[in-house]
Amino acid sequence: MANKKIIAVVGATGAQGGGLVRAILADPDDGFAARAITRDTGSDKARELARSGAEVIAADIDDEKAVTKALRGAHSAYFVTFFWAHLSPEKEKAEALIFARAAKAAGVKHVIWSTLEDTRKWIPLTDDRMPTLQGKYKVPHYDGKGESDHLFTEHGVPTTFLLTSFYWENLIYFGMGPKRGPDGKLAFTLPMGDKKLPSIASEDIGRCAYGIFKEGAELIGKTIGIAGEHLTGEQMANSLGKALGEPVRYNAIAPETFRGFGFPGADDLGNMFQFNRDFADDYCRARNLGVSRSLNPALQNFGTWLAEHKSRIPLE
Ligand SMILES: NC(=O)c1ccc[n+]([C@@H]2O[C@H](COP(=O)([O-])OP(=O)(O)OC[C@H]3O[C@@H](n4cnc5c(N)ncnc54)[C@H](OP(=O)(O)O)[C@@H]3O)[C@@H](O)[C@H]2O)c1
Repeated sequence: MANKKIIAVVGATGAQGGGLVRAILADPDDGFAARAITRDTGSDKARELARSGAEVIAADIDDEKAVTKALRGAHSAYFVTFFWAHLSPEKEKAEALIFARAAKAAGVKHVIWSTLEDTRKWIPLTDDRMPTLQGKYKVPHYDGKGESDHLFTEHGVPTTFLLTSFYWENLIYFGMGPKRGPDGKLAFTLPMGDKKLPSIASEDIGRCAYGIFKEGAELIGKTIGIAGEHLTGEQMANSLGKALGEPVRYNAIAPETFRGFGFPGADDLGNMFQFNRDFADDYCRARNLGVSRSLNPALQNFGTWLAEHKSRIPLE
């Protein structure tokens, strides 16, 4: 441990950070050690990370002193915010500022900031193709992250900006899997028309991030987008049908229909899909599959992910 470069990982008990911690621990000879940051070092997940060989440290990302302390002695850091815990881009922006200030104060040599596009560069607030949300955003959970990119640059923090993609796990945990209709048949709903959506196994985000840390200084200042595949709704429905052993119809709804679903954040996600659909060329181009595979040679495609996870997708 003493001679290893420590990578401090925010969200270590979650999807992105967890994948990164596991990738570091799976590669003990490559000179990196994992420091898992959690609010609760006593949780089952935190204890599991400690048992697997991670150093586990307590910090809440809203507490600048605690974050700075958690970064001391670390060579690198992975920063992610948790929009769906609070639905506030203002909070994400405040947390990004804490990350930038803390990384600077602790002298971290390489940061990865898990970001997304500021969609207002494509759809200004004056554009009424989609509603403006929370007064000043089009896609709040993208815009707050993208708007924060400059904080790292301005604080002189050596940063790689990581553009992530739609997790396939949303089919398991976020109610986005195929649903059985009144006719008893399965339909997969996505407001993407015939456009391709970049998507990924969430575990592969951390593995790609580890690839970025291994490449090191060359990737500082760069924006890197990752995905496991770029797939249309039709292609996803076909793969689901093959994996589940029964036909799955693609139900291509309009983004406004999705916005009307009414659950917290449905309007944000409806706008997100509309942005992904209407600017699919730019959005896919920013997430190069070859680059993703070179960072993470074990990158999964939708078929391989489904083979392992299909039984966990709720179908009702
Ligand atoms: N779902 C998607 O398709 C998708 C795609 C691209 C990007 N994203 C973005 O991914 C982000 C979430 O990342 P994720 O999916 O890896 O999260 P996640 O799996 O929900 O993990 C959240 C973890 O973060 C920790 N955490 C939460 N609040 C914290 C706080 N205040 N201080 C310190 N730790 C805290 C929790 O750990 P403890 O309880 O142990 O502290 C929890 O285990 C969101 O901002 C979302 O916009 C999602």
